[in-house]
Amino acid sequence: MSCRIVLGAQWGDEGKGKVVDYLSADADAVVRCQGGANAGHTVVVSGRKLALHLVPSGALHPHCEIILGNGMVVDPLALVDEIEALERAGVELRSRLRLSTAAHTVLPCHRIQDQVEERRRGNGGIGTTGRGIGPAYADKAARTGIPLGWFQRDDANLRATLRVAIQHKLEWLRALAPDLAPEMDGDIERLVAAAAVLRPLLCDTTQRLHALVDANKHVVLEGAQGALLDLDHGSYPYVTSSSCTAAGVLSGCGLAPRDVTSVIGVVKAYATRVGNGPFPSEIAGADGERLRQIGHEFGATTGRPRRCGWFDAVAVRHAARISGCSELALTKLDVLDGFDRVLIADAYLCHGELLRHFPSDSETLAACKPRYVEAAGWSTPTTNCRRASDLPAAARRYVARIEDLVGVPVRLLSVGPEREATLHWGDSGR
Ligand code: GDP
Ligand code: IMO
Ligand code: MG
Repeated sequence: MSCRIVLGAQWGDEGKGKVVDYLSADADAVVRCQGGANAGHTVVVSGRKLALHLVPSGALHPHCEIILGNGMVVDPLALVDEIEALERAGVELRSRLRLSTAAHTVLPCHRIQDQVEERRRGNGGIGTTGRGIGPAYADKAARTGIPLGWFQRDDANLRATLRVAIQHKLEWLRALAPDLAPEMDGDIERLVAAAAVLRPLLCDTTQRLHALVDANKHVVLEGAQGALLDLDHGSYPYVTSSSCTAAGVLSGCGLAPRDVTSVIGVVKAYATRVGNGPFPSEIAGADGERLRQIGHEFGATTGRPRRCGWFDAVAVRHAARISGCSELALTKLDVLDGFDRVLIADAYLCHGELLRHFPSDSETLAACKPRYVEAAGWSTPTTNCRRASDLPAAARRYVARIEDLVGVPVRLLSVGPEREATLHWGDSGR
């Protein structure tokens, strides 16, 4: 039996999709637990690239049951589109997809609210994905949201439920942003049509997961976003609206700490952040642009250029500590091929003081300057390496340095987007 949590230990986009797809080869079920269609998890199989937003990245293994858990916020229209797009690509889903009745609904008006709120923030905007995530979680917390279980009601009843929920919000939105002119009747009909697709998939996913774990099955819990975007532990307000740590993953699916067999923190060999907020190791100059181009650092959900920086061991140490990471999966090592030198932030300097920990408030974080240690670069390409011993010596030293600075062993190393470009790292790599 295994129950592995795979989560982002930076600011998202660490390569969780690739790692979850790789680890799901022997999994019975893969589960999303929090977030919604703000996620963009890219999986590349046999040269074909698929970006998943709501559907867990284990979906490409036909034997895998796929579960969307209680803690998610699900846009029914986006989910139906994603199911249909995957089915057109030859990925059959409906017979093995389970959708929690306790997950919450992202309505079209939540997306509009997300845009309106961003606009009102002006230059201080968060840079959200515009997928309605914050407003949907806010309504859930205010107890004015719509659990997906209500989509089991008959059409007339569902229509009435949606009308009550949407009407009040639209009046408020129309007053704030008359130019957006949101409409209601068309949205309600589209949601009622989506309900017909989703009803057969709805169930009590917590019970289902308990049954799988009790039957000693192999389960992968797929985190979305990254620990540094966590609502409680990230640089508020430049965060997402869910809990992206191991604790959030568990509360989002109904499993308990004692069910967990390992916590795998996925980290890139450098750092990226999309959206606003402090990012101490961001590179302003040519090296940042070079990482963006070689690493194709453009958002899978919004297409926005990602901000790029050096590996930040202070931030990853913090992320690994709050989630109890037992191992790391280090991705995109190949992107660093050809750099003369690579830097790692091992501490921050803040108002003349040396900080070894990640500060809990974003104003302090914004004042932090990284203290770097320098490592030698390597010129031999790594993307065709399949054993740790094939890697250039300087690349091996770089990985070992990251392990030492973060204090968590690297187990999996990724040197390309394809499944095959994955190698196991153990003591042999050092
Ligand atoms: P996620 O949100 O954590 O799943 O990450 P994204 O899918 O948003 O972004 C990671 C990107 O890097 C995707 O385009 C992946 O195909 C790609 N990728 C993953 N691992 C590697 C790797 O080891 N090397 C390279 N070059 N690309 C990778
Ligand atoms: P995956 O799962 C990277 C960021 C947004 C913004 C902030 C709030 O692909 O790693 P939101 O729409 O959630 O209210 O936006 O969080 N963000 C992500 N950044 N990867 C993600 O997901 C993200 N999901 C949200 O850019 O800064
Ligand atoms: Mg992503």
